[in-house]
Amino acid sequence: MKKLFYIILAIASAVSCTGLRELDGDYLLDIIPYPEDVTIRSGSFNAAGAIFHCDPLMDEASRNVASKFAARLSEATGKPSELIEGRARAGFNFIVDKAMKPEEYSLSISRKAVEIKASDLNGFNYAIQTLKQMLPEEIFGSQADPDEDWQLHCAVIKDAPRFAYRGMHLDVSRHFFSVEEVKRYLDVMEVHKLNRLHWHLTDDQGWRVEIKKYPELTSKGSIRKETLVGHLKPSDNTFDGVPYGKGLWYTQEQIREVVAYAAAKGITIVPEIDLPGHMVAALACYPELGCTGGPYDVWTMWGVADDVLCPGNEKTFEFIENVLDEIVEMFPSEYIHIGGDECPKVRWEKCPKCQARIKELGLEGDGAHSAEHFLQSYVTARVEAYLATKGRKIIGWDEILEGELAPNATVMSWRGIQGGLAAAKLGHDAIMTPNSHMYFDYYQSENQDAEPLSIGGYLPVSKVYSYEPFEEGMSEEEKSHIIGVQANLWTEYITTDSHLEYMLLPRLAALSEVQWCQPEVKNWERFLESVDDICEIYDEMGYNYARHILDD
Ligand code: ACM
Ligand code: ZN
Repeated sequence: MKKLFYIILAIASAVSCTGLRELDGDYLLDIIPYPEDVTIRSGSFNAAGAIFHCDPLMDEASRNVASKFAARLSEATGKPSELIEGRARAGFNFIVDKAMKPEEYSLSISRKAVEIKASDLNGFNYAIQTLKQMLPEEIFGSQADPDEDWQLHCAVIKDAPRFAYRGMHLDVSRHFFSVEEVKRYLDVMEVHKLNRLHWHLTDDQGWRVEIKKYPELTSKGSIRKETLVGHLKPSDNTFDGVPYGKGLWYTQEQIREVVAYAAAKGITIVPEIDLPGHMVAALACYPELGCTGGPYDVWTMWGVADDVLCPGNEKTFEFIENVLDEIVEMFPSEYIHIGGDECPKVRWEKCPKCQARIKELGLEGDGAHSAEHFLQSYVTARVEAYLATKGRKIIGWDEILEGELAPNATVMSWRGIQGGLAAAKLGHDAIMTPNSHMYFDYYQSENQDAEPLSIGGYLPVSKVYSYEPFEEGMSEEEKSHIIGVQANLWTEYITTDSHLEYMLLPRLAALSEVQWCQPEVKNWERFLESVDDICEIYDEMGYNYARHILDD
């Protein structure tokens, strides 16, 4: 009893200097997402000048993240932290434990040594992210700060993610973001242990990825002649009259650079080629792929365009396959996102080629869905089968449930939760990204006049945090098909890097706890206490972020 008293006293005396926080009698660390199991011990480890020992079994990618951490620690503390092979009783010890699950890690921090165990890159990198959040926030910057107290509080941490797919989406079609900014997006995703960037590369308003077989997609399809000003008003829209998008696309070399940059952080980039709708930028270049034959202009409005790819035309499939051939060469992701959302059927209803295809396939409406919905299912299934020949799987927005779901498709549930729940019931995997909780293009305040123009809605950090992907009454089998959660950032009204970051942060921090933490670990009060610390990290990294939650 006496011993426990002294331990508590020792812990309490360290509260101020090592990022330890007291909440309702418990001692907690300022870490987001919060680890699954944390035991605080007394004492602290001095990280300044500590040697890094790497298990000879560590793979190169894991060794690289350790080496980067050692280099930054050396720079920050002004005391060199050498990285050597082997194991010791002191310093940092990175140990490969093949019995651990992918992405799992453990940390044992004593006064003399820090033992870091994992079985893969992600596990080691997440251990490092946790350690960095336990150190002074200057570790996230680029300056030297030898006067800081570079102590890690002694603790034992066991941690693993709740969901395997932890995604963040970025639309670069409506507005383009540079390679440098996409890398910054990835940097902050890494801080919060996300592992998928869903990169929305093509849409009606601009095609942004180089396809060598179809050079016009970028030379012409990246440019719209003007942009809608303000919200969509069907009767009297106004436009800025300024062409947008010339040269604003990624070369294949740049794409590979970003893919490799992400991979080094354990982040897989899932590319999206949105089809058969949201294709006006491509139709503007290759009008023969549309039902009417055009001419078409790259879309200058937000919302949904009626002109879509013509699945009655074999050339459309040739185009899709050729594009995807180059996409799979650039992106090693097992998933390719093929869109499928918001595909109006009005052109197909009138198109002789589409109607002939419907007849040839014997497609019929079933009361719930029209023959044209089944025609979209045919497109999705055909693209799925093609990508399967290349060892890839498809993700589609929840509209792919309309008609008949392609055999192995994963459904991304955005129009609420029903699509995801229906997919799980059918034995398909689903990723939950309901617009009620996961659309980061929505306003962050009810005082919209004080905010930059947004698409609408209201999504404060607390609402993101409150999302629970499992519904009452779901079977264990259904739950196993909810493979993850993602938030989406559509960029209709987002034209600058600082605005993009403002919409992302700190809602991303809340998202990360939905994705990572078991329900019993999630705790809004604890999150709220730590969020100012996280914002100091954003300051160090030079991000702009929304401050509503700090001001409340
Ligand atoms: C979507 O927001 N159209 C997927
Ligand atoms: Zn057609």
